[in-house]
Amino acid sequence: MTDPVLAAIRRRRVTRAMTDEPVSREQVETILDAARWAPTAGNRHLQRYVATTDPGTLRVLRMVSPGMIARPTAAIAVCVDHGLAAEYGFPPENRGPWIDVGTATATILLAAQAVRVGAGPVSSFSRAAVGVVLGLPGGWTAELIIGLGHPAPDQPRPIKPARLTWRDLTQWVPEDV
Ligand SMILES: Cc1cc2nc3c(=O)[nH]c(=O)nc-3n(C[C@H](O)[C@H](O)[C@H](O)COP(=O)(O)O)c2cc1C
Repeated sequence: MTDPVLAAIRRRRVTRAMTDEPVSREQVETILDAARWAPTAGNRHLQRYVATTDPGTLRVLRMVSPGMIARPTAAIAVCVDHGLAAEYGFPPENRGPWIDVGTATATILLAAQAVRVGAGPVSSFSRAAVGVVLGLPGGWTAELIIGLGHPAPDQPRPIKPARLTWRDLTQWVPEDV
């Protein structure tokens, strides 16, 4: 496989051990700039990002996020602006805004890799507490937090190594012969 995008997709792995070396503001900004190119439902861009490199804020974020195993030196919370979604006529049950969180997150993970920064998404956190810690405006909810940091030489073993091929995950219609 020679295509660099396909190679990067295959190479990307969650970083679960990070060094103390700070991630620069410029690196975070490059990652955020990449995120805005992610596809969004109706091209409405209902995601909002809250970014921090502040050690105190990161420490408190970790306290309310049991899923944050690493000690990131920067973090981006991917939020949904539900007020804006309603203004655009998205009914509350519409899945578009949540799917947008996924497209943004995938883009952020690949962009982090491109600027040589390790990244790991975290969904296990107290949404109420994170809302307070990050001072989220009314109507915004944090849906995923992406921890960013320089990978430590030793990484914990993956949760469960993926052994699935694309064939395991796919069915053809009509059924393949
Ligand atoms: C929606 C979502 C939520 C996740 N939440 C967490 C989490 O709370 N803590 C964590 O360590 N990893 C979390 N992960 C990372 C997955 O565990 C990881 O992607 C998976 O184990 C495969 O590893 P890989 O991305 O390195 O291939 C999450 C990933 C996604 C997509």
